[in-house]
Amino acid sequence: MTHETLLSRGIPFSSLPDSYVRPPSERPRLSEVLPFRAIPIIDLASPDRSDVVRQVRHACASYGFFQIVNHGMPGALVENMLRIARNFFRLPIEEKMKLYSDDPSKKLRLSTSFNVKKETVNNWRDYLRLHCHPLEEFIHEWPTNPPDFRDVVGEYSKEARELAQRVMELISLSLGLGEDYLRRRLGSQAQHMAINYYPVCPEPELTYGLPGHTDPNALTILLQDGIAGLQVMIDQQWLAVDPVPGAFVVNIGDQIQALSNARYRSVWHRAVVNSKQERMSIATFMCPGSDAMIEAAEELAGEGEGGLVYRSFTYDEYYKQFWSRSLDDDHCLEFFKRRPNSTWRLNRGNLA
Ligand code: OGA
Ligand code: NI
Repeated sequence: MTHETLLSRGIPFSSLPDSYVRPPSERPRLSEVLPFRAIPIIDLASPDRSDVVRQVRHACASYGFFQIVNHGMPGALVENMLRIARNFFRLPIEEKMKLYSDDPSKKLRLSTSFNVKKETVNNWRDYLRLHCHPLEEFIHEWPTNPPDFRDVVGEYSKEARELAQRVMELISLSLGLGEDYLRRRLGSQAQHMAINYYPVCPEPELTYGLPGHTDPNALTILLQDGIAGLQVMIDQQWLAVDPVPGAFVVNIGDQIQALSNARYRSVWHRAVVNSKQERMSIATFMCPGSDAMIEAAEELAGEGEGGLVYRSFTYDEYYKQFWSRSLDDDHCLEFFKRRPNSTWRLNRGNLA
């Protein structure tokens, strides 16, 4: 094993291996990142639903990100999920390597970095990816160590799916459409999970946990432990998202950007690492079903705004395009524009 070695091998690194070192122009420049307390926090238990819808509209249009509190997911389940995630990555390396794969088409795999076959610089992250829906179809492939992995992660993923549906109803209403708009367009939604482990890093200024990217799926619901690391690009500036205890971070993925006809943005975000504490995050990705054609409603075409921005496509087609790239290439949706215009560009590297 060379660069494919897992980071979670149980032995701390005293220096950053060369394959993780970014060239000077691509480093995170952590001292320039703004502390960000202003990411909208939305109380889902508020009795005034139209006010909640207004807050969702503002958050989606201006940030593409928000946090939700009073979301109904039991606190004990959240704690159990984080505990299982931690205990999984503490398993002996030989045990974990049984699940290792760098093939993105595998439905259960432990991997490292992002896409080790395509990227030139590695990222300071190990991750376990799972398919979660329909649960009966996938749960028998899931790890049995830690022993309660299947019970806890199964329960968590069911609750996360329900929560995602509630959030999608609010987003649909916030677009001025019926609450079932996204549900109908996304078909029989698939659901994936990434359990991300970011070990203590000897030189966090030189590398990333995840470099800047947008999420290719429809909607992401992120659970973080109490450690900061997520940063969001707003107005050309990286902002640090403070973890709010008990909250989930929600972000718009590329598919809702398409289905909102680009009113809502799938915003660039990244995860940075630190030299003091390891960090865990658990991402639930809601994805269009394979039966869905992704195309925005005509109502969103807007008078005089040039109609629909993207051609229709399937998620299979989109996903292949996404995984054929390196994570820090340009926005994948650029490939699906109806009329490539002046912002059409294949590689963000041209702008650096
Ligand atoms: C992701 C992601 C951020 C984080 O998994 O797509 O953006 O803080 N994660 O782990
Ligand atoms: Ni992401």
